[in-house]
Amino acid sequence: MEKNSITRLPIYQKAGLKRPASPAQARQIYIETYGCQMNVSDSELMAGILTQNGHQMVSHLDDADVVLLNTCAIRENAETKVLNRLKQLNHRKRREPELIIGVCGCMAQHLRNQLVEAAPYVDLVMGPDAYRNLPMALNAVTNRDAFLGVRLDKNEDYADIAPIRKEGIRAWLTIQRGCDKMCTFCIVPFVRGRERSLPLKLLVEDVEKLVDQGFKEVVLLGQTVNSYHDDDYDFGELLYAVSDVNGLERVRFTSPHPADATDSMIDAMANSPNVCNHLHLPLQSGSTSVLERMRRTYTAEAYRSLVAKLRERIPELVLTTDIIVGFCGETEAEFMQTYEMMAEIRYDSAFMFKYSEREGTLAHKAFPDDVPEPEKGRRLTEIIALQERISAEINTTTVGQTFTVLVEGESRRDANRYHGKTDGFKTTVFPKADSTVGDMVDVCIASATAHTLIGQIVS
Ligand code: SAH
Ligand code: F3S
Repeated sequence: MEKNSITRLPIYQKAGLKRPASPAQARQIYIETYGCQMNVSDSELMAGILTQNGHQMVSHLDDADVVLLNTCAIRENAETKVLNRLKQLNHRKRREPELIIGVCGCMAQHLRNQLVEAAPYVDLVMGPDAYRNLPMALNAVTNRDAFLGVRLDKNEDYADIAPIRKEGIRAWLTIQRGCDKMCTFCIVPFVRGRERSLPLKLLVEDVEKLVDQGFKEVVLLGQTVNSYHDDDYDFGELLYAVSDVNGLERVRFTSPHPADATDSMIDAMANSPNVCNHLHLPLQSGSTSVLERMRRTYTAEAYRSLVAKLRERIPELVLTTDIIVGFCGETEAEFMQTYEMMAEIRYDSAFMFKYSEREGTLAHKAFPDDVPEPEKGRRLTEIIALQERISAEINTTTVGQTFTVLVEGESRRDANRYHGKTDGFKTTVFPKADSTVGDMVDVCIASATAHTLIGQIVS
């Protein structure tokens, strides 16, 4: 014990830690992440908080005595998946009653007590603003009641926490938490709380540290990332400041909101060579009446003009989007407006969803979920077929062109090939030649599918 504390203390002091867990309390923790990149980033934050408090992260479930599921609530099937996973984990808990099971993130915040009723063997239910309390909650776990940490805190930005990231070439950096937009279909404002931005100075320092650690690309994250503001600094200024960091090859961001696409953002994209020319600009619907019911705060016309302006300022722009079909009251004519707008804009790719009613949202209170499930399915199938055709056509036009690709890793299907992304975030596969992970290489495209470009490195 004596020896242990002598060797441990200086390490903790050096890292500026306050409350190391005693060896008896130290846990082996496995985090399983569901949902969007914001959750991936939050899991890194949770790992930071837990290791600072003397716990250890493990990369295999079998080695863990604590399992934390970091969950998503955006659509019903995201929650169903986690409920099924919890049932599986409960089998293990029956054999090993000491196993601690925690549900963290958006679904924890959404369901709260209901989650404990559905899965009484869950020990912790911790929402997105409660991660700081994870070490305390782990110590407080009893055999009886689940620990509930579901208070939203509009001041919590975890600015002082150093996330633990996997090594790699791309780092995700949360620049903003929460959302103030209140789209009627969306649960995010209810489970992630009010919008708050991190200080610009701190973010630039974070990016400098990431570059020192070997990351080549940083992706700035926020629910409406381009509504970022820190006193007088807006999102365009943040982009400029980050893109000036020495040694940073690329900066991207996701997801911007069309209503916040200011000239300052567009200027930074057009003028900074390392700000990537890729915009994921959720449309949701091509019908102004549906957009009004969704409370998206823009019309189809305004979105069209914005795309025209973006394409004029940034000719190589790669444009992707999110679409919801079958929202409350969506008529065939309204659906066709979405279909036609997708055909007209010709996105490079799209995430497409059937509307999923979420308890607690404004749409759930105000409108019946009245498009029949088979009809939602038909509409989804139609736009997926359209988008697959457009993606394949656009990608085919890249054949013969050369793109700079950041090498990310070995292709899953072929150990002689690498995969990486173009500036526009298109997955590219090519023989390794003399390149290594982290290099920027020029790849000439020989063939393409709707999802992948295939080529050779050219010198
Ligand atoms: N903040 C992001 C959206 C986050 S959710 C943005 O506005 O860019 C990601 C996507 O999930 C949304 O863009 C929307 O297309 C989809 N989505 C959100 N709520 C949904 C629901 N209730 N049903 C179906 N899809 C939904
Ligand atoms: Fe959701 Fe709309 Fe915000 S989609 S995350 S409420 S911008």
